[in-house]
Amino acid sequence: MAAKLQRVLDEISQQMRASTDWGEVASYIPELGEVRPDQFAISVATADGGLFSAGDFQTRFSAQSITKVFTLAIALGRAGDQLWHRVGREPSGTAFNSIVQLEHEQGRPRNPFVNAGAIVTTDEVLAGREPREALAEFLGFVRAAAEDDDIHINADVARSETAHGHRNAAHAHFLASFGNLKNPPEKVLGTYFHHCATEMTTQQLAKAGRFLIGTGSYPRMVSLDRVRRLNALMLTCGHYDGSGEFAYRVGLPAKSGVGGGILGVVPGQASIAVWSPGLNRNGNSKLGTEAMEQLAREMDWSVF
Ligand code: DON
Repeated sequence: MAAKLQRVLDEISQQMRASTDWGEVASYIPELGEVRPDQFAISVATADGGLFSAGDFQTRFSAQSITKVFTLAIALGRAGDQLWHRVGREPSGTAFNSIVQLEHEQGRPRNPFVNAGAIVTTDEVLAGREPREALAEFLGFVRAAAEDDDIHINADVARSETAHGHRNAAHAHFLASFGNLKNPPEKVLGTYFHHCATEMTTQQLAKAGRFLIGTGSYPRMVSLDRVRRLNALMLTCGHYDGSGEFAYRVGLPAKSGVGGGILGVVPGQASIAVWSPGLNRNGNSKLGTEAMEQLAREMDWSVF
C-alpha cells in the first residue's frame, strides 16, 4: 500500500497545484486574510505507523475549528455523558456561526462543532481554572496525540479574532443568559480563540488525528467506544451545513477549519490531514475537499 499511497498523494498534489481556482481565504479573522491562497498540502498517517506527505506539508496553518475535535475529546473526558445535557448531537443545517437556533432551543447548541457548541465544550474544559491552565491541558493533549512538542498557539491570530469576534461574544453571552456557561464569558472566549489559533503542519495534524483511527501503533488518548462516537459526530456535523455533501462525496468522518484544513479519518486504517486556505461556498477548503474526494476514491476508502 505504501508505494501506491505516496504515488496517489504526489498525483493529487500536482493536480491541485495546477488549479486556476483556489477559492477565497477567510477574511473575517484579518490575520487569516493575509494567507496566500495558492498553497496545498496533504499528509496521511497510517495505523501501522507510516507517514506519507506531498505539497507544502512543512508549512504551518491555523487549525481553527479542527481543534474542536480535541476540545470535545477533553470535555467528554472531564464531564462524561453529562456533557450532552448542555450540547446536542444533531446536525444543525445552519452555518457554523449561526445564532438563530440557540434562542429556539433554549441555549442548548445543536452539536459540539458549531461555534456555540464548541464554546460550551471549551467552558467544560476551562472548569473554573485560568485560561492558560486549560490551554496547557489542551496543548498537552494535542502534543501527546501527535508525539510532537513543537505545536503552538499563534497569539497574533488569537488577538486578531478577539478584536473582531463579536459574533462569538454574542454566542457566549447568549449561552450565559440561558445558564449554559459555568465560567465568565470573557474567559471562555479567550480560551476558545486561543485553542482555535493552534498552528500545525499537515504532518503534525495527521499524527495528532491518529487517536481517531481506533486500532494501531500510536498513543491511545480516549477509549475505543469514545473514538467511535467522535467519528460519528465528525461524519454528521463536521462540515456544518455541508456535512451531507461531504459524506456523499468523500464518505469519511472529517472536521474542517476556516484556516483551510481538514482532518479526516479512515477507521481502522489512517488519519488524513489536508490543507489549502481557499474556501468554497460552505466555508470549507475548496481544494482540500477535492483532494479528500480523490484520495478516498483512489484508495477505495469509505465508511460505507
Ligand atoms: O470561531 C470562529 O469563527 C473560528 N475561530 C473558527 C471557525 C471555523 O473554523 C469554522 N470552520 N470551518
